[in-house]
Amino acid sequence: MSSLTVLGCMWGDEAKAKVVDFLGASADVVVRFQGGANAGHTIVSEGKKYVFHSVPSGMLYPTTRCVIAQGTVIDPFGLREEMQGLMAQGIDFSGRLFIDSRAGLVLPLHKELDSSKEEQLGKNRIGTTGKGIGPAYADQSARCGLRMGDLAHPDWLRKRLLSLYDLHGQNPDAAALDKELAALASAWEFLRGYVTEVDILLREWYLQGDSILFEGAQGTLLDVGFGTYPFVTSSHTMCGGVSTGAGFPPRWLDKVIGVYKAYGTRVGEGPFPTEIFDVTAERIRVVGNEFGTTTGRPRRIGWFDAVAAKYTADLNGLDGLAITLLDVLSGIPELKICTGYWQGDTRLPHYPSHHLDLESTQPEYLTLPGWEADIGAVNKLGKLPKAAREYLEAIQDLLERPIELVSVGKERSQTIVIN
Ligand code: IMP
Repeated sequence: MSSLTVLGCMWGDEAKAKVVDFLGASADVVVRFQGGANAGHTIVSEGKKYVFHSVPSGMLYPTTRCVIAQGTVIDPFGLREEMQGLMAQGIDFSGRLFIDSRAGLVLPLHKELDSSKEEQLGKNRIGTTGKGIGPAYADQSARCGLRMGDLAHPDWLRKRLLSLYDLHGQNPDAAALDKELAALASAWEFLRGYVTEVDILLREWYLQGDSILFEGAQGTLLDVGFGTYPFVTSSHTMCGGVSTGAGFPPRWLDKVIGVYKAYGTRVGEGPFPTEIFDVTAERIRVVGNEFGTTTGRPRRIGWFDAVAAKYTADLNGLDGLAITLLDVLSGIPELKICTGYWQGDTRLPHYPSHHLDLESTQPEYLTLPGWEADIGAVNKLGKLPKAAREYLEAIQDLLERPIELVSVGKERSQTIVIN
């Protein structure tokens, strides 16, 4: 029995899905424990492209069981559409997908609230994905949200939906309410066969010797508590979120791997001290295809921030690191890694907890030589150019953790295993 947790450790989009897909080959079960359709994973397997939002990417392996746990929020219509799309690409869900009956629902109302709140905030907006995530989690915490299992109880569902609209100052007419309830009933017909209490299964599977992989969505710097608040998502993206999100005892989290991109990116608003705006940023954006999977927005680009990265490595108690998209840096003559933050003439002792302090920091950089060669076909650490190895060694030393995997391209085969 074993569990492996794979977490994005910056602001999301660290190419976790590639790492999960690679490591998922030896997992019996893959679990999503937080977030919702704000996540977007693209996996390329044997030349075919698959896009995932709420479904765990382990579905690509024909016998892997996949779980969407309590800590997630699910748009029932979006999930049905995503599953139907994957089914049309030949993926078989029967007996393999398990959705927790306590997962929160994202309703059309939440999407409306998400966009109207962003509009109200104007230039102070968060830059959300518009998927209704924040309002859905807010309703869960306020105990007025609807959950997956409510769909099985039509009278209760009607009451809860009415009271939810009421709490948000809305009063849909009977016809609109009936229409929404009928749509929910139809989504339920499609989903009901997959809904169960997955925490029980997870604990049973672990004890019976299965290997379970927990797949984080977003990244630690977007954690609602420890991220760059308020420019965060609304769930617990860090390691502790696995236990509260999946009903899995924290003492059974056997190994935690943190995924970091070889450079920095961020979508949405919020502080990003190592952000760059020059031709190098543009080059990285194009070569790395740095456009959001869910929203298509161009991602902001920056140098690798080892101060932020060390903060998240420590918060999550990482055992090892996976570094992705190293190939994107090929051909850049000089690379920088942020090794410290300055505020005036004070070097900060650690990652600041307030976003305003973060915004006023000046990064201190270590400058390293780049490399020319295309490394997409390299499959051993020793075969990487010397400068690429030195770049990785610097990250490893600054984060005080071993690098276990390096990704040098989208394909499963373009992965260097170090440990
Ligand atoms: P929300 O999760 O849609 O509420 O968005 C809150 C913040 O998290 C915004 O800055 C989003 O851009 C960011 N975010 C949410 N999901 C992802 C993701 O999967 N990758 C990267 N950023 C994300």
